[in-house]
Amino acid sequence: MTDKDFEYVNGYYRSAAIVTPALVLALTLLAACGGKTGDSAETAQTPLLTAATIGEQSILTASEFLSQAPYAAANLQDGQNQARICTACHSMAKGGVNMIGPNLYGFFGKQVGTVAGFGYSKAIENADFVWTPRVLDAWLVQPGRFLPGNRMSFAGVGDADDRADLIAFLLTATDDSNDDNNERK
Ligand code: HEC
Repeated sequence: MTDKDFEYVNGYYRSAAIVTPALVLALTLLAACGGKTGDSAETAQTPLLTAATIGEQSILTASEFLSQAPYAAANLQDGQNQARICTACHSMAKGGVNMIGPNLYGFFGKQVGTVAGFGYSKAIENADFVWTPRVLDAWLVQPGRFLPGNRMSFAGVGDADDRADLIAFLLTATDDSNDDNNERK
């Protein structure tokens, strides 16, 4: 883990509403060993960021996000392998149909719940946030905890490095920043 990685992790935690002593300890250990996010840190981190506690975030293009930690060092092949489970319910290409879940083309940088023709849950309809890698990371830990009442039946990805790989792949696979006009609002 580089210093840059840690800054990112730190920024993630700084947005939290509640910082528990256990979390501080977990972070200290994480910083001290400089290793991968362990299970204990994972457990401490999961309750923190939810749809209700996101706060302000910086919206960058997919390539800008991909140039930053932890995505710059991500394993895209691993991300692609993991994304197979998403494609059971989501298309990702431009003009892809809505399946069980909405088409994900161009979703980074867009308001949640704005794919035309998809019937979202009340939870998504009432949600108010923009999709960024940071938000997607929190959603993917456990979607039902991030936004209670949403209808995405997906248990979550527990390992932070796996999520980074998956998110990096999704940044490339759904990138619409070279389009003249984006399909989504
Ligand atoms: C079993 C089907 C299923 C799987 C598997 C699944 N999703 Fe979903 N997803 C949904 C449904 C259904 C919704 C809409 C939820 C709602 O309306 O509450 C959704 C919503 C979303 C949204 C919000 C989109 C928007 O327009 O705001 C994102 C982002 C998303 N999923 C990403 C993923 C990713 C990434 C994966 C793979 C790790 C994944 N999903 C796996 C069914 C699925």
